[in-house]
Amino acid sequence: MHVEISRDLKLSKIDHLFVLLAEGRLDGPLPDAVSKAVRDAKFEGRSDESLTILAGQPRKVTLIGLGKHESLTMRGARVGVTAAGRIARKHRDAKIALLFPYTLPGLDDEETTLLLADFLAQSDYKYDAFITVKKEQKRFPMHGFVIAPGADAKRLTARAVIMAESINTVRDLANGPCNIVTATHLAERAIDVCKEVGVKCTVYGRREIERMRMGGLLAVNRGSSEDPRFVVMEYAPRRATAHVGLVGKGITFDSGGISIKPSEKMEEMKYDMCGAAAVIGIVEAAARLELNVKLTAVFAATDNLPSGSAYKPGEIITMMNGKTVEIINTDAEGRMILGDALHYVSQRNPDHLIDYATLTGACVVALGAEAAGLFSNNDELARKLIESGERVGERLWRLPVWDEYKESIRSDFADMKNTGGRWGGAITAAVFLKEFVNCPSWAHLDIAGTAYAETENARESRGANGAGVRVTVDFLRSLSRS
Ligand code: BES
Ligand code: MN
Ligand code: ZN
Repeated sequence: MHVEISRDLKLSKIDHLFVLLAEGRLDGPLPDAVSKAVRDAKFEGRSDESLTILAGQPRKVTLIGLGKHESLTMRGARVGVTAAGRIARKHRDAKIALLFPYTLPGLDDEETTLLLADFLAQSDYKYDAFITVKKEQKRFPMHGFVIAPGADAKRLTARAVIMAESINTVRDLANGPCNIVTATHLAERAIDVCKEVGVKCTVYGRREIERMRMGGLLAVNRGSSEDPRFVVMEYAPRRATAHVGLVGKGITFDSGGISIKPSEKMEEMKYDMCGAAAVIGIVEAAARLELNVKLTAVFAATDNLPSGSAYKPGEIITMMNGKTVEIINTDAEGRMILGDALHYVSQRNPDHLIDYATLTGACVVALGAEAAGLFSNNDELARKLIESGERVGERLWRLPVWDEYKESIRSDFADMKNTGGRWGGAITAAVFLKEFVNCPSWAHLDIAGTAYAETENARESRGANGAGVRVTVDFLRSLSRS
């Protein structure tokens, strides 16, 4: 849905007004029709309440309960906003408005408005590029206004639209089918996006990847008939206050390779490039928002398939940084391609280095879909990222990368093994990555559980959701201010 932030809205032009109301705080500055509806219907604002009335202007008003005001959270607000978007889509309302008469805890009015606009923009998202029936009906365009009295509406709208479009870049790419979204396709999209936003983009093919000796990426790619890609996007604003390196995992399909996965839910492994897609989305947002932070953003892309030439357990691979890895399980392929990418960006000496990867099932076992795993060698960076995550509703939960865990990836035949056994799988994966990082301020985000929703839920639609973009843009913004 298109979104716009508006200071005062002519309600006569609106088909459907949505008012989000919390229990115990129904006395805000509400339009008369709304106050009357609240009284007449004895609407309390419970989180299970919603009420639609036919009004004069606007034609319809829906009250959506948010639950108790004192326990109002951003995630709760998002459920309300998403409900509004879904109801509007069902009603086929062309123009809707959202009224949220509160400020979210920890945010100011402006940030609250921006986030609501962002959530509203995403509320009716559906990846339907390949649905051939009833096209006109689905394409029904909707326009959503977020009412924010006193706001600098034009500037805020521009920001909200940039976030919405960048997140949609990520969603569309990651939701795309894996026969279309190959490494070559990912690289081409990166070129397109970079061209649009004025960022330098360099794409390396097989020959160059060989020349750079990216042994990890080449090993994983050996089973595939698709070429690998290594993509470098460089955003260099004139007055940069910091240099941040970004790395994304771009496995366009992860079958597990020779250590093949069970077939149940294997189709979900098309999402194994969500890290790379997030990095593209972050570059798009940062450049369009003109953040004063230099970015060196890269991703390595290939699929992971079994074949006669595929890499196998028992092989020893020499990585770009010269370290050797004994392959125990070819399904631990993410760390192989990330090892090379992290080394590549480390050589550019960024102040901070952040990677995004749907890296381990173990992280999903630990945290489910509510938080991404955060691993870092720097307490200050970890704290800042966690804070940014809280502000934008993308929770990160820190897990350790203590050296003691290195014992589990010790190999008798090479510098390390590519898996660490049964226990602490998310941590041993991160400890493996750390071997390729040369930056005192590094963070690894394991987004395996948060990057996509297996089924639609009250907060978001099914599929990829742009995990990593909001938290990083908030973090970069905090750097660009300092
Ligand atoms: N892409 C998977 C991780 C994953 C699992 C992402 C579930 C999203 C949902 C990754 O490449 C993988 O296969 N990891 C293995 C590592 C193991 C072989 C050490 C895993 O988690 O089982
Ligand atoms: Mn795998
Ligand atoms: Zn994978």
